[in-house]
Amino acid sequence: NVNRVSVLGSFVVDLAVFSSHIPNPGETVFSESFKMGPGGKGFNQAVAAKRSGADVLFITKIGQDLFSILAEQAFEKYDLCKKYLLKSKTYGTGVALIIVNETNGNNAISVVPNACVDITLEDVEKNSEIFEKCDVFVAQFESNLQATYRAIELAKRSGAVTVLNPAPVREFDYEILKYVDILIPNEIEACLLAESFSNCNKVSKIAAKLEKFVDTVIITLGEKGVFCSKISHEIIPAIRVNTVDTTGAGDAFVGIFASYLSRNYSLRECVNFAITGAALSTTRYGTSPSMPSQKEIELMYRSVFSNEEG
Ligand code: RIB
Ligand code: NA
Repeated sequence: NVNRVSVLGSFVVDLAVFSSHIPNPGETVFSESFKMGPGGKGFNQAVAAKRSGADVLFITKIGQDLFSILAEQAFEKYDLCKKYLLKSKTYGTGVALIIVNETNGNNAISVVPNACVDITLEDVEKNSEIFEKCDVFVAQFESNLQATYRAIELAKRSGAVTVLNPAPVREFDYEILKYVDILIPNEIEACLLAESFSNCNKVSKIAAKLEKFVDTVIITLGEKGVFCSKISHEIIPAIRVNTVDTTGAGDAFVGIFASYLSRNYSLRECVNFAITGAALSTTRYGTSPSMPSQKEIELMYRSVFSNEEG
């Protein structure tokens, strides 16, 4: 197994509209356009890792409905092994409703993971080769938590580097963090995890709190950049691009980070590649369809980080 990134997570169909602003409660707005496409944090991260050059195995669960056809097509399009596209007998395929603010590309999302919560411990045990034969294992919190915990533990015990993106925000068992090497929350998730709502502006303090639980913490801060105390005590700035849609940028970061990590790049290089790819993803509409290729990432990386040492 060389460059193998395994991902357990969600596949959901993204239903996105593009509006002049995100409506307030009780308000109706007109939207310019509507796009339907494959998404879900798990799938997006798997696609980001794959497009950027890793050998990816992705396990998820869908329903047996109209949206499941879209899932099958998406697996084919991105050349992901369909052996691990499980089907629920009782749940439908997950769905996310997304509203993108056209003026700044910001978004609001509500997700129904549906069949992703039906990923069972048995599914994990039966497909344990995914977790046991990878260099890097990636998980999020958008699927069944017990199955997610078990997969992380299996991967860690088999010697993989484990990456957890604790998104969306939800209650979870902190015990699982002992099997996590690298935690990648966004600012909101990091604040909640560190329980420091009050001084959320001190990102280094939040990171220091979280570093008691895991080896490495990388906090993604959107257009502000990324904080990782192992690399710098300053925020590493994001790359300025013509942003149209930030949906899935966090997933681009996590997937691309894992992808380069599986190829033995340094932590700093992995973060820089991920910053580059995340920026590129915001210049295009959609989530997984906006993930950049290895070629695109490395071209931009060379022009941005050419003066930096590895
Ligand atoms: O992170 C973005 C993803 O979150 C979207 O694709 C949507 O499916 C939601 O789950
Ligand atoms: Na995008």
